[in-house]
Amino acid sequence: MPGLTIGDTIPNLEVDTTHGRMKLHDYIGNSWAVLFSHPADFTPVCTTELGKMALYAPEFDKRGVKLLGFSCDAVPSHLRWIGDIESYTPGCKVSYPIVADPTREVIRQLNMADPEAKDADGAELPSRALHVVAGDKRIKLSILYPATTGRDLDEVLRAVDSLQATAKYKVATPVNWRPGQPVVISPSVSTEDAQKMFPQGYKTVDLPSKKEYLRFTKL
Ligand code: BEZ
Repeated sequence: MPGLTIGDTIPNLEVDTTHGRMKLHDYIGNSWAVLFSHPADFTPVCTTELGKMALYAPEFDKRGVKLLGFSCDAVPSHLRWIGDIESYTPGCKVSYPIVADPTREVIRQLNMADPEAKDADGAELPSRALHVVAGDKRIKLSILYPATTGRDLDEVLRAVDSLQATAKYKVATPVNWRPGQPVVISPSVSTEDAQKMFPQGYKTVDLPSKKEYLRFTKL
């Protein structure tokens, strides 16, 4: 995924969406945001993803995360497609905006274009790219899936929980971490500082190397 990546500020593009014209930074404001792209309207995997994202919207909202979808068709197409999405996923309401990008300029600038996929006219298509952006408008995490593999939204929520926890405290989350489970103290924190920073205590794992780098604590 060359181009825009973790740590970069997303460009403040002015875009057409199902909620009208907006600038990306204005939409995000001081919230976090999940920007997620889709190859095209009226395609099967995308239809399942957008519906599930609508069902998960309250969970993202609880975490202060705004949602913004991208598909390269035009707004009238998106509006008609939403009828299919809401019909396929009962109980869902697509209340987040979907960006239109007929010229592919937006997906190019956001590094969401699939290097291999082209439409019937040879135009670029978006991949299933997803950027998690914080209130500072910088990318904290990016994933890139091909059109044929739908994303796991539980994993996106889990990753947001990790990103928000690790933005607040000098910790990292270990393999398969779930909220509520122990976290590890960042390697950059010295033993002296760890004792001050984590007064609730922490447990250092005794390893053959005798290096004291695997330190578990509770948030
Ligand atoms: C889909 O959303 O199902 C899809 C879109 C483009 C290529 C393959 C699958």
